[in-house]
Amino acid sequence: MIEIKKLTKQADNKLILRGIDLSIKKGETVAILGPNGAGKSTLLKVLATLIKPSSGHVTINGYDLRKNQMKIKKMMGYLPHSSLLYDHYSPLENLVFFGNVYGIKNVEQKSIDLVREVGLSFFLHEPVKNFSRGMIQRIAIARAIIHEPPLLLLDEPHTGLDQGAINILNNVILSMKEKGTTTLMVTHDFKQATELCDRIIIIKNGKIVDDFRLEEKKLNLVSEKYQLQVEGVS
Ligand SMILES: Nc1ncnc2c1ncn2[C@@H]1O[C@H](COP(=O)(O)OP(=O)(O)OP(=O)(O)O)[C@@H](O)[C@H]1O
Ligand SMILES: [Mg+2]
Repeated sequence: MIEIKKLTKQADNKLILRGIDLSIKKGETVAILGPNGAGKSTLLKVLATLIKPSSGHVTINGYDLRKNQMKIKKMMGYLPHSSLLYDHYSPLENLVFFGNVYGIKNVEQKSIDLVREVGLSFFLHEPVKNFSRGMIQRIAIARAIIHEPPLLLLDEPHTGLDQGAINILNNVILSMKEKGTTTLMVTHDFKQATELCDRIIIIKNGKIVDDFRLEEKKLNLVSEKYQLQVEGVS
């Protein structure tokens, strides 16, 4: 699904990504862990075609990232730190707008269903600018999945969510996994990473320092490996 070879990203004379080699298969759910400033969000932005790599080669579903940006954008749902929603629009208006961008059918009904799924039916027509952070994140999740993308790129998706919304998000991720969706999730939350993902990647200083499968859902294993790689503690 994703093939990354010798990817680098430089900005302001600083090397943010220093040679990433990574191969992710269709249907994998992968967590990306690493300290602040490691380059995790930058990697996701490159994959979402928001910023250009400085060197290296990336293909998504066989499409070259540099040449097929529109095709790749349609294939993915990207949930960044910022919500990408229009403040003065309601959830319904936002979802209908983004649904139309992707050319999906029955967009109004689908939007209403999604707002219900994220538990905000009561606020269907309220402008998003009046929403709390967690409510915005719920609608942002709905926006990211409205076109049922085969690839999900999630940047700290659990941040700001209450327990109910965490359950909604996790159900979305797991039910999309059942449909064969590939998910790449940046997170600082080891518990969510362990519960949801079948593979863990640790990034430090723009490089992958560990990459392992989670055969058993052991939180200890993840935090031990993280401490070893990131903090140098064994
Ligand atoms: N446009 C830019 N210009 C210059 N430096 C940048 C730019 N974008 C990011 N950086 C730098 O690149 C480094 C990696 O940033 P990035 O946002 O990818 O980190 P991160 O791993 O997502 O961190 P966090 O866990 O805090 O979200 C940081 O040092 C940041 O200051
Ligand atoms: Mg980040």
